[in-house]
Amino acid sequence: MVDFVNSNVDWLIYVVQSLTALFLTIHQRKCIMLTDNYPRVELSHTPTPLECLENLSQKLGGPKIWVKRDDCTGLAMGGNKVRQLEYYIGDAVSKGADTILTTGAMQSNQVRLTIAAARKLGLDVEVQLEERVGGRPQEYYNSGNPFLMKLMGAKIHHYADGEDEEGADRALYAYADEVSKAGKTPYVIPLSGDHIPYGSLGYVRCAEELVLQFHQRSLKIDGIILPTGSATTHAGILCGLRALNCNIPVYGFCVRRDQQSQAERVLAKAEKVAEMIGHPGIVTKQDIWTNDKMLYPGYGQLNDELEEAMRLAAVCEGLLLDPTYTGKTMAGLIDLIESGHFTPDQNIVFLHTGGTPALFGYPELIDKMLDEKQIKTAI
Ligand SMILES: Cc1ncc(COP(=O)(O)O)c(C=O)c1O
Repeated sequence: MVDFVNSNVDWLIYVVQSLTALFLTIHQRKCIMLTDNYPRVELSHTPTPLECLENLSQKLGGPKIWVKRDDCTGLAMGGNKVRQLEYYIGDAVSKGADTILTTGAMQSNQVRLTIAAARKLGLDVEVQLEERVGGRPQEYYNSGNPFLMKLMGAKIHHYADGEDEEGADRALYAYADEVSKAGKTPYVIPLSGDHIPYGSLGYVRCAEELVLQFHQRSLKIDGIILPTGSATTHAGILCGLRALNCNIPVYGFCVRRDQQSQAERVLAKAEKVAEMIGHPGIVTKQDIWTNDKMLYPGYGQLNDELEEAMRLAAVCEGLLLDPTYTGKTMAGLIDLIESGHFTPDQNIVFLHTGGTPALFGYPELIDKMLDEKQIKTAI
C-alpha cells in the first residue's frame, strides 16, 4: 500500500516537473520568436534578480513589493539603458557603423551607457549634453554621470536647450554629417519620438524574463511599476507582456512630461513596437496608465516625497534610488499604496531602472540624508 502511494506521488511529481519543463520550453521559444528578427549585441548581465522587499512592504502596510534589479544589468554601473542599447547598437553594427552618437541631459544615464557600450565594442562615440535642469551646483556638471563619461572618454558636444528634443536631434545629425565627411560611418541614437524604437525590444525581452520568473516562483503579480521618460521601457514591457497573453497592469510614473502627453507618447511607441514584434494592435489606449503627481517641480529636480522615498528604500532595504527616475517612481508608488490602491494580499513589482550614479550630482541631498532625526523616523 505504502509503495503504491509512493509510486503515485512520484508519478505526480514526474508529471508536474514534465509540464513545467514543457511550459518553460514553449515560453522560451515564444520569447526568442518575438525579438528574433532583430540584431542584438550582448552587453547585459541577465536575467537580473527579482527580490522581495520584505521590510519596505511591512513598513508601508500594503502589498508585497518585489524589485526587478535592472540597476544590476552589469555594464558600467548598469541600468535600463543597457538592455535598450543591445538593440540600438545591434542595428548599428549590422549596418556597418563605426561611430555611435547620442544625446541626453547632463546627468544622462543613456549617454554614460552608450559611451560604455561603444568602448566595450571598440567603436568611436560622440555625445551631446543638454542643459535640461537649471540652477544646479558644480557637482551636477562634473560628478556622477559626467565624471564617468569623461573617465571612459568620448567627444562631448553641448546643446544649450534642454526641452527641445527635435532641435537636439537635428544638432546630433549635423555632427553625424561631420563624421561621414571624415570618412567614417555614424549611427545616431536619437531622442525624439519618431524613430524606430529598437531599444524597446530590450524590454520585450525583459517582459519575457519577468513572466518566466513569476511562473518559476508561482507568483501572481498585480502590477508592474516603472518610470516613464522616453517611453522606450514602458512600451517594450507592455508589448512583451501582452504578446505573451499576460494582462498585468503597468503603472508608469512620469519623469519628464505631464501624464496626458506621456500617455500619448507611450501609445505611439507601443504601436510601433507591437508591429515590430508581429503583434500589431496588441496594446491599446486602455493599457496605458501614467501619473505625473511626483514630477514637480520638473525633470531632475528634487521634492519632499522623492527624498522621503529615497530614504525609506535606503534605510529599510539598502536599496539605492536616484533623484530623477526611480526615486520619483517610488514616491508615486508609496502614494498609490497610501491611497489604498492595492490590498495587502497582492504582489507588485517595482522595476529598478538604475540611475544611481546621478546621486553624486546632488550634493544638497547629502546634508538632508545625514539628518539623524529623519533617519530614525524612517526606521
Ligand atoms: C535610470 C533611468 N530610469 C528610467 C528612465 C526612463 O526610461 P525610458 O527613457 O525608457 O522611458 C531613464 C531614462 O533616461 C533612466 O536613465
